[in-house]
Amino acid sequence: MIVAIDGPAGVGKSTVARLLAGRLKYLYLDTGALYRAVAWTVLQRGVDMADQKAVAALLPLTSLKMEFENETVVVRVNDKDVTGELRSPAVSASASVVSAIPAVRAWLLPVQRSIGERGSVVAEGRDIGTKVFPSAPVKFFLEADPTVRAERRHRELVAAGHAREIEQTSTEMAGRDSRDRSRAVAPLVPAEDAHHIDTSRLSAAEVVDLMMGIIAAKL
Ligand code: C5P
Repeated sequence: MIVAIDGPAGVGKSTVARLLAGRLKYLYLDTGALYRAVAWTVLQRGVDMADQKAVAALLPLTSLKMEFENETVVVRVNDKDVTGELRSPAVSASASVVSAIPAVRAWLLPVQRSIGERGSVVAEGRDIGTKVFPSAPVKFFLEADPTVRAERRHRELVAAGHAREIEQTSTEMAGRDSRDRSRAVAPLVPAEDAHHIDTSRLSAAEVVDLMMGIIAAKL
């Protein structure tokens, strides 16, 4: 069983996907973490992100592993645990740049699908319902007011120790979303058969309850 969840930044995808995976006892597949790990590698090696060939040339030299340890997910790049470094603003911005490179998307596709073959998963990202698991029996597309999304992302960043103004978070998020929506390969668009949920005025638990009702009808 695969539950696909897509949507822009700050819409609550990760929180809801993690809770839902816990309720269903499925694996939680955070596909953004894979794009972030590629971005981390590119930043670490000092490769120019605008140079698509140079970024593509890094991929065969990179071993990327996503390990599921109890409730937590550990991401390793060439055996180094980079999980704690993946959510910084620099990595977020770079992830949406490298994710527009077709070679990066092609490289990560089998990685994501092989995790899906391990069993039932709740997979979350931008192209899960359209490209990664197009035949997933249940698909959700989450949306929310841009102001609410910026506030959520801002609270998360401040809690993680990134001091900044909300305007900065809002501008960065808008830039990232516009890159994700306008790229040529696998842009952020809802799958035709996705259930749309506006999370602006709902708590994470309320979103999960809504989703459980829809999933229950399919099980
Ligand atoms: O979901 P998260 O914010 O961690 O994703 C980081 C970036 O990775 C996104 O802005 C997007 O550019 C990219 N991404 C993607 N396709 C996915 C998941 C993430 O392009 N399935």
